[in-house]
Amino acid sequence: MTQLYGQAKIPSVDAANFRQQDPEFQELVLNLINIHVVSEDYGADCFERSILRGPTPEFKQRMAKTVMEEYGHHIRFRRLLEELSIDWRETMKAKQHLSTFDVPIESWADQMVFLALVDRAAAHQFVEFEKMPYAPFRKAAEETLREEHGHVGLGMKGVKWLLDHAPGGRAEVKAAVLKWLPVGLQSFGADRSKSNERYRYWGIKTRTNEEMRAAYFAEVMPIIREKWGIDVPHRLEDWWNGKTAQAAGDGGYKYAGMSLRP
Ligand SMILES: [Fe+2]
Ligand SMILES: [Fe+2]
Repeated sequence: MTQLYGQAKIPSVDAANFRQQDPEFQELVLNLINIHVVSEDYGADCFERSILRGPTPEFKQRMAKTVMEEYGHHIRFRRLLEELSIDWRETMKAKQHLSTFDVPIESWADQMVFLALVDRAAAHQFVEFEKMPYAPFRKAAEETLREEHGHVGLGMKGVKWLLDHAPGGRAEVKAAVLKWLPVGLQSFGADRSKSNERYRYWGIKTRTNEEMRAAYFAEVMPIIREKWGIDVPHRLEDWWNGKTAQAAGDGGYKYAGMSLRP
């Protein structure tokens, strides 16, 4: 039996029949491709500065590999546009990168906690995309997810190293958790999102932003509190009030009405 996707119950789509699909479906899929074309390149630029911050040659090597793979993600998603005869350079001019990268990565601890927490959030999104109706995107998501798991692994290893070996490492990790966990939570989008509803209608996503965020939060809390031994508020409502975050204007970030600062 052919698999059907979403409430719309559409069969799998490929590049050859993409243009025959409903305009809304095309727009939503293209929007996601564009986000990745722009943000994977921008993110790789942000990560590049972390290579030389690695505390050992091994960590520098793993970080360099991560940067290489992030540029690879940009190129992989670019191919999806090229397959549809869309000029990716126009996309790069027209589209903003994800707000995830508006918060600057300023230290090695920042970078490791980013990989452990924010790349983990990205991995949760790719798990969704592996199930979407557009076949080329499914394949790209599958390949990207494998590498994202490696990035999360590097983050976990890097955090462990900081906790075990770096003087002041624990305080640095804690500050970075307060900085990046909100970014990870925010990356799933707002609660009661209209666009998520449309993504689900077309089967491009299967879960609500709230469901995805809750699953992510349930996964990271034991890591942060038990594995890393870092005491942070353990209820989602302490971190998230249903809206997107705002910079508090003094170097801190405001979430769920509370200002989070190291
Ligand atoms: Fe990536
Ligand atoms: Fe990554």
